[in-house]
Amino acid sequence: MPDGKTVSYHAYEHIYYVTNVEDSTYQYLNFYVPEAVCQTDSHVPILLRTYVGGYMAARAVEPDATDATGRALSEGYAVCIPGSRGSNAVVTLPGGEKHFTGRAPAGLLDLKAAVRYLHYNDALMPGDAERIVTDGTSAGGAMSSLLGATGNHPLYAPLLQQMGAADARDDVFAAVCYCPITDLEHADMAYEWLYGCTNGGVRGLDAAQMEVSAQLAAAYPAYLESLGLRNPADGTLLTAANYPDYLKHYLKLSAQRACNEGCDIPRDIGICFYQPEEKGGRRRPQSEVVTDIDLEKYLNYVVTTHPLKSPPAFDQAGVLDGRATPENSLFGDARGSVAHFTLYSLRRATANPTATLPAEVEERVRLLNPMNFIGDTSCRTAPHWYIRHGARDRDTAFQISVNLATRLMNLGYDVDFALPWNRPHSGDYHLDDLFRWLQSIR
Ligand code: DHB
Repeated sequence: MPDGKTVSYHAYEHIYYVTNVEDSTYQYLNFYVPEAVCQTDSHVPILLRTYVGGYMAARAVEPDATDATGRALSEGYAVCIPGSRGSNAVVTLPGGEKHFTGRAPAGLLDLKAAVRYLHYNDALMPGDAERIVTDGTSAGGAMSSLLGATGNHPLYAPLLQQMGAADARDDVFAAVCYCPITDLEHADMAYEWLYGCTNGGVRGLDAAQMEVSAQLAAAYPAYLESLGLRNPADGTLLTAANYPDYLKHYLKLSAQRACNEGCDIPRDIGICFYQPEEKGGRRRPQSEVVTDIDLEKYLNYVVTTHPLKSPPAFDQAGVLDGRATPENSLFGDARGSVAHFTLYSLRRATANPTATLPAEVEERVRLLNPMNFIGDTSCRTAPHWYIRHGARDRDTAFQISVNLATRLMNLGYDVDFALPWNRPHSGDYHLDDLFRWLQSIR
């Protein structure tokens, strides 16, 4: 471990979690148990860490001393690292034809099958399947949110059965989601609604991009308001008009914590301070009070640290520049196509204002959005959530994580949510915070 401590653990590797293995490179899990746990209480929580990134396939790897898996072992947790298929997973069929095995929702189904394996074998394995904590970052954060949201939902059951997943539950106890790239079918409009204020300046869009950006941004308020989210502090219904203040609330908390911890925040990025007078004209970050945020100025600052994606940020595939995104590949077919997954981009790319998505694509998109399942009485949503999105992470709009957290809070789930200061797109950071929280829910 980074602190010099050595952790001994048992490794159980290469355990196939379905009987109809389609892609033997990915469809197995590794399972690790601290030696001390094997000798004493084996009913410890299981950290299930997915290494999915970019919606691509992820192998079952070994624990890493520098991330949550190593830390979990040193804290006495069992660790499960499942592999899963993703957009780039491919096998060669007997005739020589390439077959893409991991288009949506295959990756999620694999992870659910791994969860089922743990439940099915709970009595035979160390670790407590009633205490599974999922963890992932970015597309992996989205997978973690889906595992948390969709436990036991019957919509996935026939697909899991076809794969030969264990006949067992797939709900989990807690979901840890770092910068989840999710709510994909609304992510383009969310992005342009938030970052439109940077278009004329640092973002430097051309006329066609400006038009796309404006059209997407204009579509967002109706979606946002259809969610019926409420400010957890006072129950106010969130609208496009009051949402910026709601977002600023989380950014202010973030900046304030940074000040309290001695971080010297630049004066010119839109954070407004009250600075109590101190002897000798000294300025101490710890005594500063964050009073407000100039959101437009702050967002323009964020964009200078990492250029934005061009519009549409997620469903591109020929809308403007011919580029296909990871998400276009995700919704493509087994022959390796790329596909649109929003009406806006489909209609713009085909110049057909009445084009509709194939029902099959629509259904796959639906199965991959946790917002469709939280609180659905046909499933068991995880009771505990830890959600983080860096305060300068521009891979998706802040609203994606804020709305996920808010929907969960509104429905009474236990949610620890923050936009950590000065964090870009990343995960498994502030592990002291995470493990203190995990300890609090045990
Ligand atoms: C990831 C990042 C993205 O910007 C995206 O669109 C999808 C996935 C990732 O890091 O996993």
